[in-house]
Amino acid sequence: MTTALTSPELTLNDKAHTVIPQIGFGTFQIPADQTQRAVEEALEIGYRHIDTAAAYYNEEAVGAALKATGMAGKVFVATKLRNCDQGYDQTLIAFEESRRKLGLDVVDMYLIHWPMPRIDAYRQTWRALLKLREEGAIRVAGVSNFLPEHLEALREDSGELPAVNQIENHPRYSQPATRAYCAEHGVAVEAWSPLGHGGDMSAEPIVAAAEAHGVTPAEVVLRWHTQSGRIIIPKSKHPDRMRQNLASAGFDLTAAELAAIDALDAPEGRIGADPVTYVQSQSWADQKARGNV
Ligand SMILES: NC(=O)c1ccc[n+]([C@@H]2O[C@H](COP(=O)([O-])OP(=O)(O)OC[C@H]3O[C@@H](n4cnc5c(N)ncnc54)[C@H](OP(=O)(O)O)[C@@H]3O)[C@@H](O)[C@H]2O)c1
Repeated sequence: MTTALTSPELTLNDKAHTVIPQIGFGTFQIPADQTQRAVEEALEIGYRHIDTAAAYYNEEAVGAALKATGMAGKVFVATKLRNCDQGYDQTLIAFEESRRKLGLDVVDMYLIHWPMPRIDAYRQTWRALLKLREEGAIRVAGVSNFLPEHLEALREDSGELPAVNQIENHPRYSQPATRAYCAEHGVAVEAWSPLGHGGDMSAEPIVAAAEAHGVTPAEVVLRWHTQSGRIIIPKSKHPDRMRQNLASAGFDLTAAELAAIDALDAPEGRIGADPVTYVQSQSWADQKARGNV
């Protein structure tokens, strides 16, 4: 396979100093019957980091793409534990199902999808992830949608913080408090919906920077993330956009441009759920009813 484009890499703060491609390919809401083709295209373009989740119901299609391209074990693959599978024993069972569907011996990164503090099982769930890492079944143990209070609870309970926290992060909702906690404690921030689900590209400082650098607003937003040290997993069904997104680290924004985009953050910019109150099961029926699969 010829690789036209490559992603910059980051070294995580875990004990193994795992290297992760900073620009990955997101697969949320790509229907399962289109996921294999989309992932094969992404791999052909040069992506070496694929983000999926048990709750996306497309892990098998991701696994099929890895197998068909001969890339299983050669690219960084992250998946996530469904909310309804939280708890120590249940996590270990659910992980085996994800590993089987992906067709991998070792999963590069396993994330707890949501903290669900009202269910209060995330500490035991985290201990199960640490066991999976000890056994070599996963390389990196991480979380998603965790606020500083949830991260602190993990640290107090297990003595260890996740290497990665995948959070909603785009210009209109960039979570400065959670980012500050993560920066202070060496937790890498991974931005989900880095383009604001496609809706954050029309703000004046983004359009102005795009004109100044001769690039698209999407490239400006993605470069704002990567220049700020975040991992990103933009999703697109279109190969030209996949290419554009992976190539987005080829120019530098000025400090003033970065600051102007930082200043777009606002509480009403959130597009996803509130991690404090979110308790959806993410079962197939639940995801179907929400239009997520
Ligand atoms: N952990 C979590 O709770 C969580 C939640 C949500 C998402 N995620 C992860 O984050 C990934 C990305 O999030 P997302 O899919 O919600 O949103 P996103 O990547 O911010 O935006 C995707 C949207 O932007 C469009 N787009 C992509 N590249 C573009 C470009 N260069 N120019 C113009 N438009 C472009 C896409 O349209 P086309 O497809 O038509 O190109 C799509 O509508 C997901 O796939 C998933 O892996 C995680």
